[in-house]
Amino acid sequence: MADGIQPQPGILDIALYKGGDAHLDGVSNVLKLSSNENPLGPSDAVKEAIVRATHDLHRYPPTDHAKLRAAIAEVWHVDAERIFCGVGSGDVLKLLAEAYAGPGDEVVFTEHGFSMYPIYAHACGATPVVAPENERVVDVDAVLAACTDKTKLVFIANPANPTGTMIGSAEVARLAEGLPPQALLVLDGAYAEFVDGFDAGKALVESRENVFMSRTFSKIYGLGGMRVGWGYGPQAIIDVLNRIRGPFNLSSAALAAAEAAVRDTAHTEKCRIENAKWRDWLANALAELGVPSDTSTANFILARFADEAEASACDAHLRANGIIVRRVAGYGLPHCLRITIGDESACRRVAHAVAQFKGAK
Ligand SMILES: Cc1ncc(COP(=O)(O)O)c(C=O)c1O
Repeated sequence: MADGIQPQPGILDIALYKGGDAHLDGVSNVLKLSSNENPLGPSDAVKEAIVRATHDLHRYPPTDHAKLRAAIAEVWHVDAERIFCGVGSGDVLKLLAEAYAGPGDEVVFTEHGFSMYPIYAHACGATPVVAPENERVVDVDAVLAACTDKTKLVFIANPANPTGTMIGSAEVARLAEGLPPQALLVLDGAYAEFVDGFDAGKALVESRENVFMSRTFSKIYGLGGMRVGWGYGPQAIIDVLNRIRGPFNLSSAALAAAEAAVRDTAHTEKCRIENAKWRDWLANALAELGVPSDTSTANFILARFADEAEASACDAHLRANGIIVRRVAGYGLPHCLRITIGDESACRRVAHAVAQFKGAK
């Protein structure tokens, strides 16, 4: 490469995102619990919609995502005109960063925040700013204290990944109210549907001009492979995002799948109930083995071990038994393992393996 050809500032500061491992050498029957995927997958209605979409693959997909936006609007009681659809919610967050932050600007997130936030900040040349958490929970006062007149975006996942913890609506509202005038609060609701009756910030988006909410089809809808996410925000922001996205950013199959998924509310409800049941079961089972976790509101738990050595040894034991969970040292949590909630047999397999590990020590 010629010396003179250089990427934009910040890009070479990015450490590559590492997804959850999916394979173990020489092990069959691998149980992947490292990417917070839905073990039940999408419903039959969604699979049928994808097959139907194959009839028109020679056609470009619609550019306005009108049918998907109408379905989301109907199910979530939001204004279709203020919905933006992206290639996963990560794409929505990245476009927000591209549109609203650049060199000299600051992007604030919290200590154990989702690891893509600093990547989005660096990719647009902005400066990532980390606010401390309070015992793995977002601390609104610390976030407000981290804001300056350079802050353009504040990313808060609620529920948060990888901690699984949440802050209440009053705290979120206090955060929105206290931000400097040039800063947009982005409420990342990737795990919002796992929380019964949670509006994920919708009311705040509707009552304020400085709040944006993102959602995904990758988690409860079981469509991580389809890459669909959406955002809900002030009209002016939706308008900006629509100017910079690819015109055909979502494929026909992705649009059809997401529309069928959001309309299949019975399946979503079933997934939410199953997840809550087995999440609580697994958290209790591990706690009884001396492995505590914070109360999780998402589809994973953050299991805490005595120290990094114990977490690492337990991870090795799980891998030896064909179970892949997520090491979270990169999140500043070296003594923890993030375990996605699988189905009943998966949760039982994890509890059994951790019991073996603890018993063998
Ligand atoms: C907190 C959070 N936000 C956003 C995403 C992005 O998901 P996707 O791009 O699949 O919608 C994830 C994925 O793991 C996540 O955990």
